[in-house]
Formats: sequence, C-alpha cells, structure tokens
Amino acid sequence: MKKLYCIVGARPNFMKIAPIMRALREQAGSIKPILVHTGQHYDEAMNDTFFEQLGIPSPDIHLDVGSGTHAAQTAEIMKRFEPVIRRDQPDAILVVGDVNSTIACALVAAKLGVRVIHVEAGLRSNDRSMPEEINRILTDQLSEMLFITERDAEQNLVREGIDCNKIRFVGNVMIDTLLHNLEKTNIITDILMRNNIGAEITGDYGVITLHRPSNVDNADVLGDLLKTLSDISINIPLFFPVHPRTAQKIKSANLEYILESENIICTKPLAYLDLLGLMRKARLVLTDSGGIQEETTALGIPCITLRENTERPITITDGTNTLAGIDRQKIMAAADDVIINGGKIGRVPELWDGHAAERIVAELNDWL
Ligand code: UD1
Repeated sequence: MKKLYCIVGARPNFMKIAPIMRALREQAGSIKPILVHTGQHYDEAMNDTFFEQLGIPSPDIHLDVGSGTHAAQTAEIMKRFEPVIRRDQPDAILVVGDVNSTIACALVAAKLGVRVIHVEAGLRSNDRSMPEEINRILTDQLSEMLFITERDAEQNLVREGIDCNKIRFVGNVMIDTLLHNLEKTNIITDILMRNNIGAEITGDYGVITLHRPSNVDNADVLGDLLKTLSDISINIPLFFPVHPRTAQKIKSANLEYILESENIICTKPLAYLDLLGLMRKARLVLTDSGGIQEETTALGIPCITLRENTERPITITDGTNTLAGIDRQKIMAAADDVIINGGKIGRVPELWDGHAAERIVAELNDWL
C-alpha cells in the first residue's frame, strides 16, 4: 500500500478534501489515505460542523497549531509536521488550496524528498500583497503533480517554468462538494430557526461574506465597505455571517454602529449547508472569498466580488462574477444592476461536474 498524507487546516480546505477522501475510500486501489489536520482553524463554527456535515473522517493526526502571525503559524506547522513525516515516511502528501497550512506542509515534505501533490494548482491573482498568492506560487513550485480547475491555470504554471507533464486538468473538487450536498440544504426558515436568527424574509435577499486582510484589517477601508453594504441593504436585506477575523476588527475599530440597520442580519459563521442553502436562493452575493466566487458561478447566482482582482478568472468569463473592487460607486452600480436587471447569467465551467475527485484518484492510482 502507498501511504498518502492528505492535509487540511482551514475552513476552505474542508470542502476540497471531503470528496477526495470519499473517492479514495470508494476507488481504494493501493492507496492508504491518512488525514492530517494542522489545526489552523479550530472554532466549532469554523471546523467541527464542516467535518460533521461533509462526512469527513476524524483526522488521524492533529497538529493543534492554532492562530498566529503568518511566520509564527507557518513555522509552527512546519516544526510539528516534520517529525511526523520523518517517523511515518509517507509516499506522498496531498495539499489543497492556498492557505498557510498548504505551503507549510508542502515545504516540509519537499525538503524531506516526499512528493507533493497540489489540488487547485495554477490559480493566480498576480497580486503578491495577497498572502495566498505567495502560498500558491511556492506550493506549485514544490509540487510533482498539479491538478488544475480551469485551463488558464496551465498557462500560469508553464510561464513559471513548471513542466506541463506534471499538470492534469480535472475540474473543481469544491464543486464536487456543492453538487453532492445541494439537495441536503434546508429551507430558509429552518436555517433562520437553527441559527436563532429572528428575521423574517419573504422576498429577495442577498448574502455578504468579508474576511480578506486587505478589506478588513484597515479600519477606514472596512468602515467604508460596511457603509456601502449598509446602503445596499436599504433596497434588499442582506445576511452577513461574520468571520472571526472580521468580527474582531469591527469590534476593535468600533464599527458596530454601521451594522445596526435591521436590514443587515449579522450572524456567526454559518455551517456549510446553511450558507449553501442561503446562497442558492439569494438574489445576489457580495463577497471577497475565492471559493464563493466559484460556488455562485456553479449555482448561477450573481456574485459581486469586493476585490480588484481574482485568481479565478473563469468565474468572470464564463460565470456570474463581476469584479467591483472596493469603490463605493462601482459596488452600488453592480448591486443596482443585479437588483434591477437580474445580473449575469453565466454557464458552468468545463468539468465542474461533480466528478473531479474521482478523476484525481484515478490519476493517483496510476501515478503513485
Ligand atoms: C485563512 C486563510 C484564507 C482563507 C480563510 C478562510 C491563510 C493565509 N489565510 O484566513 O486564505 O480564505 O482562512 O476562513 O491561510 N480565528 C478564530 N477561530 C478560528 C480560526 C481563526 O477565532 O477557528 C481568528 C483568530 O483570531 C485568527 C484570525 O481569525 O488570528 C485569522 O485566522 P487565520 O487562520 O490566520 O486567517 P483567516 O483570516 O481565517
């Protein structure tokens, strides 16, 4: 049997690993998967509920690192992962996405001569002020097998000197999870009740998510964004599940008053099925998340992205995504366009068909 370490750490990793673990179980072959959790995310709402709802097995190994600055968190993961790799000598490790856990574990494995497999390789925002961009570039450089979600990613990788024989276009594992769970999402009233949300929603509504450091770490930028969103909420009620990073920043900058409007419904971070349930019936989604740009494209729901760039251009060319940046006028205009004209319709990108993980495991059965 070939020992394959599958790494997760932060919330967006869980949706990506779930179908891979399932496919590894179903197409067993000669691979023995071992799930390693770094502990980058640990709150129940950011972690446990995802394992439960997505049916991810409990981690075999837990590194319990927790939060920290980029250097402290990355270094701590590396320090705790190295002895595990030395002891167990896996045949390869599989990392997903672009969080600090991804690069930290890839770097440890590559230096010990253990092959690295990267799922969701080759995405580029070309904006190195974004911590994930650095994680993406470096993880791809360290990887021996790179699975991509859209064809543009191959050009990005080849431009950076990566051998095209290492690249496989397999589709999008995050959309595997979305399609697998879509019918399990609850009706809106159940979602509101379960989360103790005392709002009544009878007509259209929108959903906000906000957590990028560039949007939330600076009090002026965050305050302006919240004011813009509050003004949009005059025309359409907006659900706002608040990420812990964002909650801390709102509190420390005393910005709670902007969210006092009845039409902005703030909640704790929502469980996967609850957020998916809200998004699939929403009129629009306003977000700075990478994954949600893809999920809204798969759902056919208009997405207004509160960033100047995206590493997922296919959500703009093929999907329902519009880049509005953080300029008030642009965001208001994009929201008005959706509310009045319905917004972009889009189509589902090639191979976002719910079977990406099966293709990955089929490749790995040969390659390992
Ligand atoms: C991380 C990822 C980001 C991803 C996001 C999804 C990196 C560099 N960033 O950002 O790509 O989009 O996860 O959520 O890896 N905290 C809690 N409870 C938790 C986890 C975090 O309260 O369970 C708080 C801590 O105060 C922590 C802060 O949130 O310092 C930020 O967490 P961190 O993992 O460093 O980055 P995210 O902003 O979550």
